[in-house]
Amino acid sequence: MVRNVIFSKSDKIFQFAFIYVVEIGSKTHEKSRDIDSFIGIMAVIKKLNQDLSMKITSTSVAARVAQFEDLTRSIPIKKCSNVFINQRDTPSVRDLIRKFSSQPEKPIKNIKLEATASSSPNRINQEKHAANLIGETFKAYKQRKEAKAVNELGVKTLTNSKASRSYFYDQKGQFLSRTPDNFQKGGKGGFKQLVRRDDQFVQLHIHRLDENLNQRSYNQLANSTLQGYESICKAQFVNPTTMIAHNGGKEVASLIDEGKSVKLLAFKTLLSDLKNLHEKSIYFHDIKPENLTFDDKIVRHIDVENLIAPGYNTRDEGIVCSPYYITQHLLNDIEFGDNKDHASRNHDNYAVLKSIIEATTGSFFDENNRADEDASMPVFGMGEKSLGRARVWIQENVLPKWQNNAEQLLKCPGTQTKPVAVFDMIDWASVEKSDLA
Ligand SMILES: Nc1ncnc2c1ncn2[C@@H]1O[C@H](COP(=O)(O)OP(=O)(O)O)[C@@H](O)[C@H]1O
Ligand SMILES: [Mg+2]
Repeated sequence: MVRNVIFSKSDKIFQFAFIYVVEIGSKTHEKSRDIDSFIGIMAVIKKLNQDLSMKITSTSVAARVAQFEDLTRSIPIKKCSNVFINQRDTPSVRDLIRKFSSQPEKPIKNIKLEATASSSPNRINQEKHAANLIGETFKAYKQRKEAKAVNELGVKTLTNSKASRSYFYDQKGQFLSRTPDNFQKGGKGGFKQLVRRDDQFVQLHIHRLDENLNQRSYNQLANSTLQGYESICKAQFVNPTTMIAHNGGKEVASLIDEGKSVKLLAFKTLLSDLKNLHEKSIYFHDIKPENLTFDDKIVRHIDVENLIAPGYNTRDEGIVCSPYYITQHLLNDIEFGDNKDHASRNHDNYAVLKSIIEATTGSFFDENNRADEDASMPVFGMGEKSLGRARVWIQENVLPKWQNNAEQLLKCPGTQTKPVAVFDMIDWASVEKSDLA
């Protein structure tokens, strides 16, 4: 339920659509501001676009009302909008606008409906018919959604077979995701391969099943504890071999492969979230440029199913990590050390700092050794050559107070007694200043 949808006063077109649909279209709804009522707005907007050649895109509406587009896509909008074609507004619509807006009819004048307005009873009937159709369609869609049972992973699926697209909801009927539009293979890891994508979502096919993973409890974690972290682009299982996630943008590793770099400021949210998650004893353990994406604004974690979190996954079964972003010494500390939490923190900090230096400089420390899953891992940490390169970066971006600490972290992460969050180490004031320059 979204209760605080407010269209700005100047936004007359949307006010018009809002009143039209909520008050006339969804009679069944008793003025509720339920987000689902907005389903019908699409039909109105189509009409405005068609009749008045206005260019209101569904994306511009989606930006105003969260999840709007996905909800509107899930009912046969075409059926509704067909009824609207060749209609004009009626005095009843204008009355409502007057009632709801302290300003009189200006919005209608603005969108040039006034000139063609007519009060013919036929038009009023047509409008009533359209309104009822929206209401009925909406009701049918709600009933269909309610009647649908959740699968073994706690997900409800409604499929539009004509469009070969499915919509996924949680147990309470809250929209989670939908099938992305385009078949297009993308990045492939040890377990998953990107097979479909569009601007909003990606679909991952699981080509190797991870038997240690409880898919249902991962979905629950994704829907609760991991909710609200902007930097986590969490995929969810919609069936045992398919996951859907928000599209996080381009994989950072492939950007580096192309010699491109990502600015440090794009990691700020991720580092602040990482600090926060560590305080809740949640650790990723597989941070690397292959598991980070960049959408031209911020960098996000993908591939988080194997994270360690209280009540979800402990270190007892071992951790999932990549040789190039861990050390033997760290691994030993994580499995057998006296302070496993510190070891876990140090591991994430080591892996994230190494990945960030690679991403912001646009080149890997050791091109040859990275991708090999069976490559031998270093015993302690970075060798002198890599450390020399890292030192330059540290002097430029880390607060003087933490420069030794940062270097020590890369040289030998396991021996650090007190881990310092990478977020706290960075000189954000100067990073922000140089970003503006
Ligand atoms: N949310 C996402 N946005 C964009 N690309 C993604 C997303 N999730 C996965 N990918 C792409 O798919 C690849 C495989 O996904 P990942 O979750 O890392 O699988 P694996 O567990 O096999 O490593 C990633 O390396 C990335 O290229
Ligand atoms: Mg991966």
